Amino acid sequence: MTPDLLIVAATEARTRAFAPYSKFQVGAALEAEDGTVVRGCNVESASYGLTMCAERVAVFAGILQGFHCFRRVAIVTDTATPTPPCGACRQILWEFAPEAEVILANLTGTVERFTMRELLPHGFDAKQLREPGV
Ligand code: THU
Repeated sequence: MTPDLLIVAATEARTRAFAPYSKFQVGAALEAEDGTVVRGCNVESASYGLTMCAERVAVFAGILQGFHCFRRVAIVTDTATPTPPCGACRQILWEFAPEAEVILANLTGTVERFTMRELLPHGFDAKQLREPGV
């Protein structure tokens, strides 16, 4: 799938966002290693802290479908400048898409590109859990 089509997939996912409290709708689309696209939207709770971001909904949906590594991520919001993923989502994306290109887009065609490494340098992952103590 081309990066443009991945943005289209995230834009469509955004229309499914359940965001009655913030009114801030987010769509995410992840491309797995075999080209499969998995989508997510943010889902808010009346108990606000239980809200789940679009990026993590997408990663968790992908895991349910049997994918554990993604090579490209698109995130779409209706903002003047594209929205970068929050810290919690950067952590989850780092664990399941460490080599990914992250494409941020808005609804008017502004696109920004980053690598996961740029968004989360010195990330924490399973490697640290395996490292022996001194
Ligand atoms: N949100 C996301 O979906 N992804 C992010 O990376 C940042 C924030 C959602 C959560 C909440 O529903 C709304 O945006 C406002 O924070």
